[in-house]
Amino acid sequence: GFNMRYKEDKLEKSEQELWEESQTAKASHNSKKKNDGNEYELVFEDVIEFVNTEKKKAKNKKGEEIEGSGETQELLKEDKTMSEYDKIQISRKNLPVYAYREEFLSALKDHQVLILVGETGSGKTTQIPQYLHESGYTSYGKVACTQPRRVAAMSVAARVSVEMGVELGKEVGYSIRFEDCTCEGTKVQYMTDGMLLRSFLTEPDLKSFSALIIDEAHERTLHTDILFGLVKDIVRFRKDLKLIISSATLDAEKFSSYLDDAPIFMIPGRCHSVDILYTKQPEADYVDASVVTTLQIHVTQKIGSGDILIFLTGQEEIEQCAETLTARTKGLGSKIPELIICPIYANLPSDQQAKIFDKTPPNARKVVIATNIAETSLTIDGICYVIDSGFAKQTSYNPKTGMSSLVVTPISQAAANQRSGRAGRTAPGKCFRLFTAWSFKNELDENTVPEIQRTNMGNVVLQLKALGINDLLGFDFMDAPPAETLMRAFESLYALGALNDKGELTKLGRRMAEFPLEPMLSKTVIYSEKLNCTKEVLSMVSMLSIGASVFYVPKDKKVHAETARLNFARGGGGDQISLLRCYTRWEESEYSTQWCFENFVQVKSMRKARDIRDQLEGLCERVEIEPTSCGLDEFEPVLKCFTAGFFFNVAKLSRSGDYTTVKNRQTCYLHPSSVLAKDEVPAKWLAFFELSFTTKEFMRQCAPIKGEWMVELAPHYYSPDDIEEAKGKKVPKQRSRGR
Ligand code: CDP
Ligand code: MG
Repeated sequence: GFNMRYKEDKLEKSEQELWEESQTAKASHNSKKKNDGNEYELVFEDVIEFVNTEKKKAKNKKGEEIEGSGETQELLKEDKTMSEYDKIQISRKNLPVYAYREEFLSALKDHQVLILVGETGSGKTTQIPQYLHESGYTSYGKVACTQPRRVAAMSVAARVSVEMGVELGKEVGYSIRFEDCTCEGTKVQYMTDGMLLRSFLTEPDLKSFSALIIDEAHERTLHTDILFGLVKDIVRFRKDLKLIISSATLDAEKFSSYLDDAPIFMIPGRCHSVDILYTKQPEADYVDASVVTTLQIHVTQKIGSGDILIFLTGQEEIEQCAETLTARTKGLGSKIPELIICPIYANLPSDQQAKIFDKTPPNARKVVIATNIAETSLTIDGICYVIDSGFAKQTSYNPKTGMSSLVVTPISQAAANQRSGRAGRTAPGKCFRLFTAWSFKNELDENTVPEIQRTNMGNVVLQLKALGINDLLGFDFMDAPPAETLMRAFESLYALGALNDKGELTKLGRRMAEFPLEPMLSKTVIYSEKLNCTKEVLSMVSMLSIGASVFYVPKDKKVHAETARLNFARGGGGDQISLLRCYTRWEESEYSTQWCFENFVQVKSMRKARDIRDQLEGLCERVEIEPTSCGLDEFEPVLKCFTAGFFFNVAKLSRSGDYTTVKNRQTCYLHPSSVLAKDEVPAKWLAFFELSFTTKEFMRQCAPIKGEWMVELAPHYYSPDDIEEAKGKKVPKQRSRGR
């Protein structure tokens, strides 16, 4: 078991001593036999560096600032007899932003556009919309507050509804893709930036809104960046509309100068110092290193000294980390205080998401294991220890090949500093970076590249075209995307038939823009009209859109679960048709939960698919697509529709047994989770849903297709030669000689 010697008597020692000693603990913990020689070094170097010095430096930068009174309020005290609601009202008044409430509101009276800067946790997201509501802005329109992430939009809306003492979905609501939790009477609406972008399609002047808050602007997501251009334009002709750009970082001058020198309103934070510790050596396995570090903090640092926040890159890592922590703490039993393990990532069911905000009981410690959602979008009170893997998942796009994939990427120095700052919100804290100080200085970029410069813009270009914005090269971008990326987007929309050769939106393109889906998926849906299989295609597309795993594999029933999953593959058609069968059978069971249990299918994922499907069905009605059906046995039309949308993603079996994409000759591999991975005779042609790069380029969700479909379904993109050539190098040569 874990070596307990360090728990009580070492609290007085220096950090470095503790880490060196805990290494011994680690060694004995890692191997039952000692001197196994296999343990790696996990030592933190106490480098004299405080996030705060960096922040202070930045803060002294000048700008046209409206400085508040600056007097920190005497903190209000709670008393035991108070109701929950009163306590919440007090905690609202204790947030840094509260001291600036009046000044902010009066600045907003004088200026149509304001840039709001305040550290994460100062209360921008939860309080500002309420201030606007309380001071009358919602009497003539809604207040919108955008969030780059769905989880943040939902959880913040939930929090604010509690603060306002109203039911979520009434005065306060949220809208995210495929989920609208608002009503007629909604006054304060949290929404993803993507949803506000879509609102322009139905209401180009946004006249139902009186104020827009573009929140977390520093994140510079693609949708936020596009919104900047649109709102900049709209405030020129809607003088009654207030616009607030809110950011957690101090480089707000850029926003200000972009928005015709809008004034910057600063809310000074109340941050404490954070000690930064680095590992002495690079860590090969940061998930394991984070587990070890967590346990070391938990046993060496006093209970009550603060909770732990771990940054990892995604659901799989987070689940693995949580599992390992559970197993190891279970092994230690009552020898250590309770460790409450709270994962948080985008696809976590919302009831579990709420758990991260629960107050930690006195004799326990909480560890939150998060993606970079907790970097700035969500603030969890009481965190004093941050463990930073130094990585995040990022989309990476290659405009040359037109392929994008999700890649685990080192974060920037700015992001690392944001992360460490999370430890110093309520008291001095510590940040354990699972990388070396050298690496921080030499290997990490200074700032994160805005998403617009590293992503596929097909969807956004389609939406802007649908808004009537034709000259995209002349669009007022804060940072323009590479010209190549824009050209790629035009080309791909042209190949899909959404744009004509003059770059104008076609009728098909207009219909595609109605769907809140990537163009390739909306093309798939619309093509089903031709092949009379709309019902099946909608089920398949909904299952592909849930973004969470459908199948569920309990540890002790791996074989059963695998058999159940492969059952859906019986009859052929690959992953897409398996998903379709799964959905159809669930539908036939009348959406039974029992059926889900029996078939090792996640009921929550299925319900989400059903929601998505309902909405897509409604949209089909709007663009007048009949709900035709081809039945389950006759699935070829369904795969043809998929190919009509995903013909960019077609790969051919190569002699080595791997696959090569047809157009740009990229080698890729069947993901082991694909039902096709079990086939003895590999499919010759595959159309895949997405590429994901882990150890290599994997194709996820793959369908076996026929080579000749490509020319039939994508005549703008493939010529018969493409297919011939891909069949093998020699054939076309001989042929041309013969001619
Ligand atoms: O937007 P900003 O980072 O400035 O702060 P905020 O998100 O408005 O957070 C203000 C406070 O609300 C923090 O103390 C959070 O812990 C709390 N909060 C919460 O308790 N539950 C949520 N779902 C969101 C925020
Ligand atoms: Mg915020």
